[in-house]
Amino acid sequence: MRKVLALMGSPRKKKNTDELLEYLLEGIRKKDYSIDKIYLADKQIYPCSGCDYCGKVEGCVSKDDMNTIYDGFDNSDIIIVAAPIYFNSVNGLTKNLIDRCQKYWSLKYSLGKEYRRTEDRIGIFLATGGAPFQHDQFNGSIPVMDYFFKSINARYKGNYFVSNTDEEPVNKRLDVKEELIEIGNNIWNIRDFYLHR
Ligand SMILES: Cc1cc2nc3c(=O)[nH]c(=O)nc-3n(C[C@H](O)[C@H](O)[C@H](O)COP(=O)(O)O)c2cc1C
Repeated sequence: MRKVLALMGSPRKKKNTDELLEYLLEGIRKKDYSIDKIYLADKQIYPCSGCDYCGKVEGCVSKDDMNTIYDGFDNSDIIIVAAPIYFNSVNGLTKNLIDRCQKYWSLKYSLGKEYRRTEDRIGIFLATGGAPFQHDQFNGSIPVMDYFFKSINARYKGNYFVSNTDEEPVNKRLDVKEELIEIGNNIWNIRDFYLHR
């Protein structure tokens, strides 16, 4: 059975980003996959202090809820991150989690070890932006997510972006709901996708 780790990075539950993630999960639930959904706002995740402990000893010096999420990265086939766009990138709550993935970089490039290199794992990124549709609205977040998925050795398979949420919230976007349920239901076999609605 495939395992899904779904990280909800908006501080606001049941709003646009959470709703977007729920649409995708609704599709995935039609399969017999196990799903672990985590609200980052409920977790205590200290910011990376840049101490370079992970560059000398395997693991992170901070002992907090990130340990559960590290376990999730270790054990999942599909890693989904949903985030609102703040100042043209992923919001701070999400970026904070990403910075704590420095331990994977250190593991590989300072300690010379391997991490899930040969496994088929995929990463999906969902994001919402309040401003009206602009072709480059989500561009700032893409290199961040690309680097993050590389760090945990998941293949960056898909982006799904929704603009204009300040005018038209995600829960009114039935076109988006329909499309994401379909994507979720085919998440493993679907071709790589980049969709901006
Ligand atoms: C601090 C802050 C910065 C934001 N910056 C942007 C931005 O750069 N571009 C954009 O399109 N929307 C921006 N927004 C709007 C959010 O992306 C939008 O409202 C999003 O859908 C919120 O998701 P949520 O409802 O899940 O919290 C910003 C919102 C906040 C609070």
